Amino acid sequence: MTNETNSSDWTLGGDLPIKRLGFGAMRLPASRRGGPPNDRDISLEVLRRAAGLGVNHIDTAAFYFHGDLHANDLIREGLKPYADDLVIATKVGPKRRPEDPMPIGEMEPGELRAEVERNLTELGLDRLDLVYLRVGGMEPAQEPIGDRFAVLARLRDEGLIRHLGVSNIKVEHLKEAMDIAPVAAVQNWFDITKPQDAEMLEICEREGIGYAPYFPLGGFGLPDDERVNAIAERHGATVAQVLLAGLLELSPVMLAIPGTGSPAHLEENMGAAGLRLTERDLAELRQR
Ligand SMILES: NC(=O)c1ccc[n+]([C@@H]2O[C@H](COP(=O)([O-])OP(=O)(O)OC[C@H]3O[C@@H](n4cnc5c(N)ncnc54)[C@H](OP(=O)(O)O)[C@@H]3O)[C@@H](O)[C@H]2O)c1
Repeated sequence: MTNETNSSDWTLGGDLPIKRLGFGAMRLPASRRGGPPNDRDISLEVLRRAAGLGVNHIDTAAFYFHGDLHANDLIREGLKPYADDLVIATKVGPKRRPEDPMPIGEMEPGELRAEVERNLTELGLDRLDLVYLRVGGMEPAQEPIGDRFAVLARLRDEGLIRHLGVSNIKVEHLKEAMDIAPVAAVQNWFDITKPQDAEMLEICEREGIGYAPYFPLGGFGLPDDERVNAIAERHGATVAQVLLAGLLELSPVMLAIPGTGSPAHLEENMGAAGLRLTERDLAELRQR
């Protein structure tokens, strides 16, 4: 374990201090996949309010868009000039058609540079703080990722990227990546009601690698889970707050990035930082 253990802060890649409760930008263009686009001004308000509430870790991707509403454009427009302490993480890897965010496969190694450059342009940056190689479909990747990760490692050596991450992976992929270049963060599907990835978390804790769970609020609607509902009731908190506080308590490497296009949900989610769960709550949450 090479990082802080019991504060609400984390140092990404050993040199970028961030708060562990951050923000995911995927829901800025549309709150639901296939749903209507969000209101542009409200999405900008969400971003600015997030920054005002102290969020300094935002997770995005060039493939987070709906029509002409792009998460990266919203971030640039809403937050530039960026605060000195803002860390923007992005992802490359999924292949898609220009007008459709739905992935149609995976990029070849030779296609990754252009996607990194696209993120640099859209975000208005000279260097990206954290770039995840996102692999696989709904399930984690099955095949090796070394060729693609090595491309990102070269872009890091060139100075286009500060830190590297891997997303939607198995332990063998993390080990493969770590043999090529330092890994600052893992981003996998995980929520506190069905914790898996125990071995991955152990490695992340041992190696000082951040773990940013995606779909931390269930991804497709809040889970209706008796344990979570009972804990929320005991604390006078909301289900979303319990899910997020539970994640942050589960491991010191957890970097929560709940996504929302709603200012009210943002305020609610940020309230999780002040929710202190008891040992009993945590034991209940850990029960399978
Ligand atoms: N690496 C990957 O493959 C991958 C995949 C998916 C996501 N991600 C990243 O992970 C982040 C988090 O995942 P996510 O945004 O998909 O899922 P999530 O945070 O689990 O849930 C977001 C959904 O919950 C709703 N929501 C948010 N706060 C709520 C609240 N307090 N009460 C009720 N509903 C609430 C949102 O709608 P409203 O807008 O109405 O609040 C949205 O529909 C994303 O934003 C993205 O940055 C990465």
